[in-house]
Amino acid sequence: MKKQFAALILAILPAFTFAAGPAVHLDKVDIDLTDKAAMQDGLKTFANYCMGCHGAQYQRYERVATDLGIPEEVMMDNIVFTDAKFGDHMKIGMKPEDAKVWFGAAPPDLTLVARVRGNDWLYTYMRSFYEDPARPYGVNNSVFPNVGMPHVLAPLQGRRVVGCKQVQVVENGRKQFDPLTGTPITQEACDQMVVEPGTGSLSEAEYDEKIKNLVTFLAYSANPVKLESQRIGTYVLLFLAVFFVFAYLLKREYWKDVH
Ligand code: HEC
Repeated sequence: MKKQFAALILAILPAFTFAAGPAVHLDKVDIDLTDKAAMQDGLKTFANYCMGCHGAQYQRYERVATDLGIPEEVMMDNIVFTDAKFGDHMKIGMKPEDAKVWFGAAPPDLTLVARVRGNDWLYTYMRSFYEDPARPYGVNNSVFPNVGMPHVLAPLQGRRVVGCKQVQVVENGRKQFDPLTGTPITQEACDQMVVEPGTGSLSEAEYDEKIKNLVTFLAYSANPVKLESQRIGTYVLLFLAVFFVFAYLLKREYWKDVH
């Protein structure tokens, strides 16, 4: 009995450790899967900064070009840096065994990552690298502690370090506002993550927009038929509406003699 009890405890223990894991706050991102300009910009970032290590091997260049409205020559000249052909899958040359030695972990394929992690997680992750001299590449990530990936977008975002900034005062869980002017009451806090001004080529708002576009592309990549299924769904409903009229007329015709 005792043994069985111990086995039971061991069996359910992982569930508890999972539940007790630190909950990271995720920033919300509102993406629009019909915004082709956003997806094109995201694809450009992905090809320029991510495909050195990550592939999107369930996706073909041709399909992406068609879905995002990119002409073949533009796609081949600006997005395809390898000797891959237009109809090829978006694979990369790096071998997972090598990557494991270099980074301690193999960079996973990113075709479906938006479905696995969620858009908010990706959006927050790509904005949460910070300098940490204790790590091999000098950076850590607050959403993915001790991550093996270097901060490849640091030239755009700049150096993110622990520093001081003005934050809104919160008392008893409520944000405080000046009763006369209605403006937020702030105070300086020195345990905050701040981007050192002038160290990145983009402003904070521009960087957020870049990442939002990247996440829009990854969300599309994880579910390329979503757009199409919405379009087809509309036709199906229209068809059913018309079909209903005829079905009703037919029913009336049949039942006429029965009554
Ligand atoms: C120099 C190689 C390298 C580049 C370039 C790179 N990554 Fe990574 N990435 C990695 C490695 C290695 C991991 C695995 C980290 C780990 O497990 O500790 C990773 C992990 C990730 C993950 C987490 C996947 C998961 O579900 O665990 C995401 C998301 C990601 N990378 C996105 C990106 C994006 C987006 C870009 C381009 C802006 C990019 N990466 C560029 C090496 C790279």
